[in-house]
Amino acid sequence: MIILTGATGHLGSSVLKHILTLVPPSEIIVSLHNRLARAELEKAGLQVRSGDYTDPRSLEDAFRGGDKLLIVSHPSFSDDLRVASHKNAIDAAVKAGVRHVYYTSLAFGRESKAAVMRAHLDTEAYLRSRGVTYTILREGVYMESFPVFLGFLGAGHDEVVVPGDGGVAWAARDDLAEATARIVAGGGYDDEAIALVGPKAYTLEQTTALISSILGREIRFSLVSQDEFVRRNSANGDVARFWASTYPALEAGEASSVNPLLGAVLGRPPVSFASRLRELLELEGEPRKEISSWIDNGRGSAP
Ligand SMILES: NC(=O)c1ccc[n+]([C@@H]2O[C@H](COP(=O)([O-])OP(=O)(O)OC[C@H]3O[C@@H](n4cnc5c(N)ncnc54)[C@H](OP(=O)(O)O)[C@@H]3O)[C@@H](O)[C@H]2O)c1
Repeated sequence: MIILTGATGHLGSSVLKHILTLVPPSEIIVSLHNRLARAELEKAGLQVRSGDYTDPRSLEDAFRGGDKLLIVSHPSFSDDLRVASHKNAIDAAVKAGVRHVYYTSLAFGRESKAAVMRAHLDTEAYLRSRGVTYTILREGVYMESFPVFLGFLGAGHDEVVVPGDGGVAWAARDDLAEATARIVAGGGYDDEAIALVGPKAYTLEQTTALISSILGREIRFSLVSQDEFVRRNSANGDVARFWASTYPALEAGEASSVNPLLGAVLGRPPVSFASRLRELLELEGEPRKEISSWIDNGRGSAP
């Protein structure tokens, strides 16, 4: 049995969609946080159980009888909440007798300058220490996250203002989800950390130029100090300070490494950045939606 978490979210719902093409629904348990989705998932023939990362008992019950568990990282900007949630899920998996735990980490450096990577690195270390077979899936930066990486770029804005630049090996979220589903269903990668990233890195400046060419109007690109970035984004509160540390990490090349694994797992070339950007920019309101889903207090999704 395969247990999935995060199945109501962007990545997890796509993992579910793809895994259903690989294994029958009777072999999948969904550990569900958002109870509203229960009826729809049950109608698809899936076993649905309640599982809240902040409630260890619920996780133990949800994970019982599972062989493999996919832990989708908690979408919070609070490191403490994130790490505690992930530890709860790992401990519950061990108690419930799960054989193989998969964790969706982030493809930044192992000694990262980015605050957003701290909770992932702490979780990775904890997972390695628990004695259960694991696979750490370092997911590349979602192409769909471009507005946040471009300094909270909003629809109609004509300037990207960020406190640093470096390459990003962007990957389409649906490609990452499909590869994740294939790896979880197919097995292998025991006790490994693997990076699923796009085949080409674009700096933020190159990304801005690509967006300009798709929109047919100039979007300017400027570098500012960390303090200026935080000041300009003060409406985003503590998130701006937290997020500002992502840029020195980009400058250090932490998100720029490419490798062929994503395409190899998919058995086809990953979706190109230009084509996905074109789709996103042509969907009116989509970039705006992505931004609010990140910074929406209490439900913001940290990478
Ligand atoms: N690589 C990247 O560029 C990037 C970008 C953004 C995010 N991320 C990371 O990747 C993860 C998946 O991204 P996403 O876009 O799919 O995020 P998302 O759409 O916000 O989905 C997060 C999932 O976590 C569930 N969840 C929230 N609180 C929970 C709790 N207490 N217990 C159990 N489940 C809980 C949500 O359930 P509900 O429906 O009940 O809220 C939802 O299913 C995020 O959590 C984040 O850590 C990575």
